[in-house]
Amino acid sequence: MRDKIKDLFNKVDQYIIESKEQAEQFRLMFLSRKGELSNLFNDFKNVAAEDKKEIGLLINQLKDKIQQRYDDAKNNIDNTSTVNTNAEDYTRPGFPFETGTSHPLTIIRQKIISTFENIGFTVASGPEVEDDWHNFSALNFPENHPARDMQDTFFIDEKFALRTHTSSVQIRLMENNKPPFRALMPGRVYRNEAISARAHCFFHQVEGLYIDKNVSFADMKQTLLYFSKEIFGEQTKIRLRPSYFPFTEPSAEMDVSCFICHSKGCSVCKHSGWVEILGCGMVDPAVLQNCNIDPEVYSGFAFGMGIERIAMLKYRVNDLRLFSENDIRFLKQFNAANE
Ligand code: DAH
Repeated sequence: MRDKIKDLFNKVDQYIIESKEQAEQFRLMFLSRKGELSNLFNDFKNVAAEDKKEIGLLINQLKDKIQQRYDDAKNNIDNTSTVNTNAEDYTRPGFPFETGTSHPLTIIRQKIISTFENIGFTVASGPEVEDDWHNFSALNFPENHPARDMQDTFFIDEKFALRTHTSSVQIRLMENNKPPFRALMPGRVYRNEAISARAHCFFHQVEGLYIDKNVSFADMKQTLLYFSKEIFGEQTKIRLRPSYFPFTEPSAEMDVSCFICHSKGCSVCKHSGWVEILGCGMVDPAVLQNCNIDPEVYSGFAFGMGIERIAMLKYRVNDLRLFSENDIRFLKQFNAANE
């Protein structure tokens, strides 16, 4: 027993404790319930009565030594780790990580899409490089229509141009599918315009198309009223002014009651109480025929609006160029969650 205790004294002295793991190993080996110290106390029962005093003293000295060694080592390790400058400081305040925001045009486009999705419209798309047929001819544009002029259209060659409106997607949709149609077609369009606060050589539109049996002008009006209330507020009124588009007959331009001054008169509505939002009309029978749809059986309406225009009105942005300049000070002011 005496030899065993002596051995353990040496072992404790020589044990290397430099890390938390080693300290734990040490604790397990000497101090735990199945450790060396506990074994010694067990064996102590068998020590002869006359030796008990001496051996008991030795075991207690050993116990103190082990405890001391363990405490010192742990203190040492803890201290060195707090002065370790590489360690993370979990108490330090976090960095203000800035999250990105959606582009204002994305926010408005999504809002328009979800408004129409709620009443059963699906989203369709078409190419930005378009041929004459889809962009003009099939939409009933006469041969000498000014929109076909070089001054308005970016031609790529004899046959192809950058689409001047998203109405071309109507044709692609109707050519390749069977009615009924209830589709929304967002996309970028191009026009040969000098860039200014009010005009740009590219901008974005959303086209809508609804074709079925027995679709009337009243259906169009109701659909557009629903849309206007969703976008500009429940109190919004609409009015339709007669207009002309080659691909619709009759055609109209739609105004909404000014949501800024509530039609009392302001600079946005130019004191008229109304702001123009979109073009619309009943799809011309000639257009249906161009897509092999029988106008005797089917009828429907179409509409088209500029996303920039709606964003400018809603957010009171007065320069169209801001949408494509990528100035973060401008962009970070818009929050999709508010829509
Ligand atoms: N394509 C027209 C434009 O770019 C907008 C438009 C007007 C689309 C009337 C339509 C419509 O579908 O029915 O100005």
